[in-house]
Amino acid sequence: MDELQELERIRREGLERLAEANDAASLEAWRVAYLGRNAPVMQVFSRLGQAPKELRPQIGQSANAVKQALEAAYQEKLEAVRRAALEEELTRQKLDVTLPGRRPFLGRHHIETQTMREILRIFTSMGFQVYSSPDIETDEYNFTYLNIPPHHPARDMWDTFYLTTPGLLLRTHTSPGQIHAMRQFAPEPVRVVLPGMCYRYEQAGARKDIQFTQVELLAVGYDITFADLKGTLQDFADRIFGERLRTRLRPSYFPFTEPSAEMDVECVICNGKGCSVCKGSGWLEIMGCGLVHPVVLQHGGYDPAKFTGFAAGMGPGRIAMLRHAIQDIRSLYENDVRFLEQF
Ligand code: PHE
Repeated sequence: MDELQELERIRREGLERLAEANDAASLEAWRVAYLGRNAPVMQVFSRLGQAPKELRPQIGQSANAVKQALEAAYQEKLEAVRRAALEEELTRQKLDVTLPGRRPFLGRHHIETQTMREILRIFTSMGFQVYSSPDIETDEYNFTYLNIPPHHPARDMWDTFYLTTPGLLLRTHTSPGQIHAMRQFAPEPVRVVLPGMCYRYEQAGARKDIQFTQVELLAVGYDITFADLKGTLQDFADRIFGERLRTRLRPSYFPFTEPSAEMDVECVICNGKGCSVCKGSGWLEIMGCGLVHPVVLQHGGYDPAKFTGFAAGMGPGRIAMLRHAIQDIRSLYENDVRFLEQF
């Protein structure tokens, strides 16, 4: 057989087969078959000795050329197959930028904090400044300076938790802050709003808990009258409930105010007709208030002959309950996200 024809056949067949090899495994099989030790082109080399002498250089050159051509074609194909594999991989894993993102969970202020901030915004816009006072109080600040001496029966209304250090307790209301503020500002007039957590030793229920927040309001100055108290509270009620609700002041009793009153607003649920929330009365109690008792003014460092003042205390939790028709005050502190995320 003519070796030159055989070489041409090897070249054509090799390239044809190479065209069919399209993955790493079949390429490797092709390499062994066409460039390995027993490949047809290698056999031409080993048969060279048997060819007529004058034809050997030409056969040798052709064999080399065919081997190089197959090697080059193989390298090129190897590259192409690798590139295609990479290409395919990238297409398969393509980042789909049109996929909607997952919305991150956003926190928010607790409904009581939101309500508290709104209350503070209203009073600060009227010229009251926010004043903070401690959760742990002495017996004097929580009771005695507020005209509730030891053994006074009014102490029964404010039973609390006592610290192991004698004489210290958790405040039962924000009213002791009145004394702190007065002592800081006397003899200058003062207008402050005092937010904070309060504690009471109570049987927890739907309307009471052992801890709750309060906001205290205090104004001390010259010629402050009950009319100032009433006007301030009416304006506050209009703004916090966002509509003109009827209000009323009912005579009440607190040792640290004289006269004392409780402020009611028309029931926001039934508009005063009477429902289960207002227990049929048409009214909801929102705060205690009154003119600062002379004894308290004195404890605060003011001369009651020259100064008068008013004070009020309310629970933002209760205001939040009324504005959002929340039935059970305990939901405010249970931290159930399903409840909290509604506001
Ligand atoms: N401290 C009273 C309470 O907790 C509320 C109050 C504050 C009443 C100021 C009158 C004046 O019940």
